[in-house]
Amino acid sequence: MLNRQELQDAFLSHFGQPAALTVHAPGRVNLIGEHTDYNGGFVFPAAINFGTWIAACKRSDNQVVAVAMDINGNENSFNLDDIQFDHNQSWANYVRGVVKMLQQAYPDINGMSLMITGNVPQGAGLSSSASFEIALLRAFSDAYGLSLTGVEAALLGQKAENDFVGCSCGIMDQLVSALGGEDQAMLLDCEALTYRHTTLPDDLAIVIINSNVKRGLVDSEYNIRREQCEEAAGVLQVTSLRHATLEQLEQHKPELKNTVYQRAHHVITENARTLAMFDALEAGDIAKVSQVMAESHVSMRDDFEITVPQIDFLVEQIAQVVGDKGGVRMTGGGFGGCVVALIPKKLVEKVSDTVNNFYHSHTGLTAAIYVCSAERGAFA
Ligand code: GLA
Repeated sequence: MLNRQELQDAFLSHFGQPAALTVHAPGRVNLIGEHTDYNGGFVFPAAINFGTWIAACKRSDNQVVAVAMDINGNENSFNLDDIQFDHNQSWANYVRGVVKMLQQAYPDINGMSLMITGNVPQGAGLSSSASFEIALLRAFSDAYGLSLTGVEAALLGQKAENDFVGCSCGIMDQLVSALGGEDQAMLLDCEALTYRHTTLPDDLAIVIINSNVKRGLVDSEYNIRREQCEEAAGVLQVTSLRHATLEQLEQHKPELKNTVYQRAHHVITENARTLAMFDALEAGDIAKVSQVMAESHVSMRDDFEITVPQIDFLVEQIAQVVGDKGGVRMTGGGFGGCVVALIPKKLVEKVSDTVNNFYHSHTGLTAAIYVCSAERGAFA
């Protein structure tokens, strides 16, 4: 990744003029509320100090020219009048998708020169793509004076991903990248698109442990989970699982395939845990935080079936060190990726030692540990 000055220098030497603006959007870690966003439910993420930076300058022609500094300075350009999917440079489809959706809402925009760099680990479940989309939207909004709101930007980013890139993600990642708060986590209501921030206790650290398990089948498994949730909502006759109760689920159990029952059980209980975790953090009840994060992990493992053995191992090891002084669970879409731990700062070293001592010998893989801070979103 380039630093800000290096990015601006690279822009000048590539485009022959200085960048008019440099923007940033963060990645995110989800503390709790997994696979609830596309069920109209609650999520509780924080924006993190890893993100995407873009140096940009608007153009008078209709071309968008984007350069990915972290992919060997790859350049991709396209005309606003004919935005097609690019089968050769997959990263460029985020730019193409975002610009296409933006253009539908703001037909008067012109071209743009963009130079991109970032440090969100890719494929780790920390939303490198949402951070990219939101940074692009910030750049266009600033350059063309569009005054996009955070919610508008999040919806455009999600639309680009759903309708252009081809991933049916929910709204969580884009919303928190846009609207996260410094030192805060945010409780998002993914149906109403409203949110409440809460300040994270000063003595707790957000620690992310990247299992480095190569994520396979993520998109197909993700889409299958979505379909199973929709099937359950259909049987329960609710618009989304957000509106279902455990009583309703039990009543309809005989009509539901066992897997579909389990998926709905996860979503309904996860929504309740997410609200409970927000209240527990506000009240400083860390033992409760510990309990709901542990239950969330078990639910993802047994009901939603999205964890892998390496991730389960990390969670067990860390939970043993932390006890009820903090919480730990898998975070993100699943099938690899990261574990998030919310732990007393004084336990960070002990948790790191435990991971370093046992993870490699048990799994043959090396974990990466990031001690993070919660940052402001790009539209906050
Ligand atoms: C991915 C998606 C989000 C959300 C999570 C699971 O990160 O992009 O919308 O569904 O998975 O909680």
